[in-house]
Amino acid sequence: MQSYELSKVKSRATSNLFNNVDKFIDLRSDTVSKPSLAMRKAMAEAAVGDDVFAEDPTVIELQEETARILGKEAALYAPSGCMANQLAIAVHTTAGDEVILEADAHIYNYETTAASYLSRVQLNPVKAADRGLLSAEDIRPAIREKAYYMPITRLIAIENTHNRAGGTVYPIERIREVSELARSNEIIMHLDGARLWNACVFANCSPKDYADYFDTVSVCFSKGLGAPVGSALAGPKELITKARRFRKIWGGGMRQAGIIAAGALFALRNNRERLVEDHAKARRFAEIITDGSKNVKIDLTRLETNIVLLKIEGFSDLGRALGMLKEKGVLLSLGSHGLLRAVTHLDVTMDECERAAREVVALFG
Ligand SMILES: Cc1ncc(COP(=O)(O)O)c(C=O)c1O
Repeated sequence: MQSYELSKVKSRATSNLFNNVDKFIDLRSDTVSKPSLAMRKAMAEAAVGDDVFAEDPTVIELQEETARILGKEAALYAPSGCMANQLAIAVHTTAGDEVILEADAHIYNYETTAASYLSRVQLNPVKAADRGLLSAEDIRPAIREKAYYMPITRLIAIENTHNRAGGTVYPIERIREVSELARSNEIIMHLDGARLWNACVFANCSPKDYADYFDTVSVCFSKGLGAPVGSALAGPKELITKARRFRKIWGGGMRQAGIIAAGALFALRNNRERLVEDHAKARRFAEIITDGSKNVKIDLTRLETNIVLLKIEGFSDLGRALGMLKEKGVLLSLGSHGLLRAVTHLDVTMDECERAAREVVALFG
């Protein structure tokens, strides 16, 4: 393995790493964090090979480790969470099938109709009664009766944590109930676990505790875990082999992908437990606003992980609100349903979150 002279890239890497944070307190998403120097070093030193030939040792290591953590037979590295979810839909369904999911689910709202485009399935969105978290009771009426003229309910996709609902976490018991309903109706279960790591920290359980109830699980390395690129789909060997074929069809076969997989592996090994810090920062941010503001409302019952949803009462131009915050050096993003969204991550400090919260209070009263 070639040794890597960190000093040569240090100045550039350091300025990359901090320029965003210097200028703005960037709470738009947990995807905005930059790889740390230690992560970059691991990436630079990664052993690589041609992953289209399944010869990249670092990709293989990442896939095996992810599968082991999730208690699945195999896993496949994918360029994005969207692709990992769509691979799951592709391997589980045939054209004309139906997928039940929550009405605010990422797969339904933010994947550019990919499920109908790529797998020719219909999505059946169900509104959850409790903070984006589906129950067996919510889902039961959406399951189709078996008749030749009806869609076939093939798959239930669950999102944990639930992004648009504000990072809410499924209690394991709820997942068990949903999976019993699914099994008794011969329905497959997929978990969109882009932020499963955050859910596990909140619920104090292992990823496998959740994954056991699902046929396939997608996870992301590039959100709270801080890797620059990538996700994985985990499940039975036979399905992952099939997913590999779809990934190639969709142009996702990557060559010396070990370079980026090394960042993901570093993230998986080093950045899971620290998510508790992101949750604490989100809580502090929300508390300062809740204590200090009359006009900005936060539903604290949704605040379980690193996403904070803010409602600014009497202020309908949210684009303007974002612009005003930006002038004060704070970047938030538009949430859904007339809300603003703040997401904490490993590139913002507690102090910055406190400052950002005070700016929100000062601006909107
Ligand atoms: C719940 C959820 N699933 C999937 C994705 C897609 O991930 P990516 O942006 O890597 O495609 C996201 C992205 O934010 C997400 O929040």
